[in-house]
Amino acid sequence: MQTATILVTGGAGYIGSHTCIELLHAGFKVLVVDNLDNSSEESLKRVEQITGKTVDFIKGDVRDAQLMASIFADNKIAATIHFAGLKAVGESCAMPLEYYDNNVNSTLVLCQAMEKANSKNLVFSSSATVYGDPEVLPLTEDMPLSATNPYGRSKLIIEEMLRDLPESDKLKKSDNPWSVALLRYFNPVGAHESGKIGEDPSDTPNNLMPFITQTAVGRRAELSIFGSDYDTVDGTGVRDYIHVVDLARGHVKAVQKLLSKDGIDGVQAYNLGTGNGISVLEMVKAFSAENDVAVPYKLVERRPGDVAACYADATRARVELDWVAEMSLEDMVRDSWKWQSLNPDGYTV
Ligand code: NAD
Ligand code: WQD
Repeated sequence: MQTATILVTGGAGYIGSHTCIELLHAGFKVLVVDNLDNSSEESLKRVEQITGKTVDFIKGDVRDAQLMASIFADNKIAATIHFAGLKAVGESCAMPLEYYDNNVNSTLVLCQAMEKANSKNLVFSSSATVYGDPEVLPLTEDMPLSATNPYGRSKLIIEEMLRDLPESDKLKKSDNPWSVALLRYFNPVGAHESGKIGEDPSDTPNNLMPFITQTAVGRRAELSIFGSDYDTVDGTGVRDYIHVVDLARGHVKAVQKLLSKDGIDGVQAYNLGTGNGISVLEMVKAFSAENDVAVPYKLVERRPGDVAACYADATRARVELDWVAEMSLEDMVRDSWKWQSLNPDGYTV
């Protein structure tokens, strides 16, 4: 099983590149397809340096049906991890059609190629954003789902589309049914401990951690903390930050489950988070203390669309996938800073 080939769409990106490392460590072969719209091939070269193993890479778009058909015709793919897509919430409000095209259409084309090749094991990158504005915390997988922006809606639409597949298997009496893990990530941060790969946003970062690291390294004058009057421990927003290496290992566990004798019966959602809520101020203070570096900040108005707090109950992933997040807040801030300080301009080489 361990020499099986895993197709990784979007594998040159932030979470994808870390997952390639963990797949290679676990003994899998990795084939990446990525159009490099939001990444650099350099990340995969560094994955090869870190692991001493080869990554097969095809530069291309997952929406290209001919390309996807040829990938499945030329390779025996044991399972596919689908990271490829667009992910910026604000941008999705300005260009919703691009988001539906890239996110929904890529999944549609991918699944058609998978079905044709009878290769029906899929791990899909979903997001905690599918819980909308949560009323009850921590979040379990069966809580109500909703979308507050086109990005989130694209993830919800994809989840619903994938949930239709097992029924089609029943009607067709398929002897190789779909087996799908929907992984709902909370807030990924951190980087590989080597400092060789990490998050490299091409524009001004939307997310907190790259904004902190770019401020600390001097690329930004100061961090704006959005809102200090939330009903939280110190008034700033609370999130469930998860180290990207823990997240990557969650993908390996999901693939191993798909390929195991028990498999996943149809479609199952899993929260991947630590279960701990951390406030923005707690994160900034932990970052400064661990790395002995200043992060100038100011408190400003709330960011429209933000929720006060969001954190996971990840019990299902522990029980069914044998996965728990193991890395600490100190690991997250240290590794984020190591990547940024060793690569102040990202993958520019
Ligand atoms: P990323 O932008 O670093 O990686 C996505 C990769 O997909 C990039 O390398 C990009 O070039 C590629 N890509 C985009 N569209 C493509 C297409 N049509 N064909 C081929 N390649 C394409 O983003 P990431 O942070 O690694 O996120 C990966 C996945 O996880 C995304 O689906 C995202 O929505 C989801 N996710 C991310 C977060 C987060 O905060 N980073 C949280 C929850 C879910
Ligand atoms: C975290 C906290 C901000 C930036 C988003 C998407 C979600 C998922 C992860 C993909 C909040 C505060 C941030 C800044 C700040 N992505 N903040 N100053 O909003 O929880 O989730 O990314 O699926 O879908 O919505 O993450 O990192 O943007 O914000 O004060 O410059 O940091 O207000 O409290 P968020 P984030």
